[in-house]
Order: sequence, then structure tokens, then C-alpha cells
Amino acid sequence: MAEITNPPAPLPDGAVPEHEVARTERHWFVIMATMLAIMMAVIVVTGITHALNPPSNVETIDPTTLHLGGEFAESNLGTAAEPDGSVTVRIVAQQYGFVPDCAQVPVDTPIKFRLTSADVIHGFLLPSTNVNTMVMPGFVAEVRTRFTRPGIYNMPCHEFCGEGHHGMWARVSVIDKDKFPKLAAAERTSCAKH
Ligand code: CUA
Repeated sequence: MAEITNPPAPLPDGAVPEHEVARTERHWFVIMATMLAIMMAVIVVTGITHALNPPSNVETIDPTTLHLGGEFAESNLGTAAEPDGSVTVRIVAQQYGFVPDCAQVPVDTPIKFRLTSADVIHGFLLPSTNVNTMVMPGFVAEVRTRFTRPGIYNMPCHEFCGEGHHGMWARVSVIDKDKFPKLAAAERTSCAKH
């Protein structure tokens, strides 16, 4: 039988011995440090391999006069082909929708999305791509991407913007490269025919 020497004074009810507290703290520290290391690694790996990085475009615009003219006037929204073969898509986000609510773009082409908000902060996300940005009133958000496959990409607003946030969706329809130039300007901002 082991001899008990110098028995510790009994702790008050509910108190945890010091060495157990220290051990628990060490465990949590290791768990937190591991989580941090994993998250940092994910950021670095996706940043390098998927071109996922925070949009760094700083460009201001007056949100109260968007509709009066300039780049984000209604007639200028949607998809526009650029002389260099790239495509620019201009979209206004507002409670609770995107204007236009669908844009057609060609596959395998440099695409530049330019967005701004007419009211509050919205979000713009294309799942499975590197497109993910906040859309803030007063600023133009710019994201560049290239779609490798045709198809419909849903773009949910992912920034809580009010009661109708959950219903704020739009779509990007990626179509064959040779079909794109044949579309009339009006069809590029509507996906009715596809
Ligand atoms: Cu717009 Cu959420």
C-alpha cells in the first residue's frame, strides 16, 4: 500500500487544483495556436493558388447621383465588350437586388466586375471563383476573374443589408465565346434566352 505523505489540504467545493488549471490552459493554447496556423495557411495557400485576395481598388463615387449619369447610369449597366477583347460588367447593388439581375459573359475571357451600392453595404460573391467583395456606398468595388466553364453562377448578397437580404440574388451566365458577340446589348443584361 502506497503511503500518503503530506496530503494536500482539501479544496473548497467546486475549486479546481492549480496543476489542472495550468494543464487545461496549455491544451487550449495549443488548440488556438493550431487553429490560427491552419487559418493562416489557408489564407496563404488560397491567395497564391486561387488568386483569392482582398480587393484593393480604392475609387470613390457619389452614391446619391448614380442614376443621373456617368458610369453607373442605367443605360451603362450590364456587360460591355472592351476593345482589347476583355469584358467589363457594371452592376449596382441596392436593397434588395442587383441591377441588372443577370449578366452574360463569355467563357475564357478576362472579366472585370465593377460594382457600387446605391444605399447600404452589400456583398458580391460568385461561388467557386475568386470573386468575393463587399459593395460599399461611395466606393467602386472592382474584381477581375476569368471563367473556365460555361454555366450559371448565382451571386448572393453575402452582407446583411436589411429585411430583404436573404432574397437578394442575381446571376452571371457564362456562355460560349463565339455566342457572345452575337448577343444584342440588351440580351447581355438579361438571361431570358438561356
Ligand atoms: Cu444586399 Cu444583403
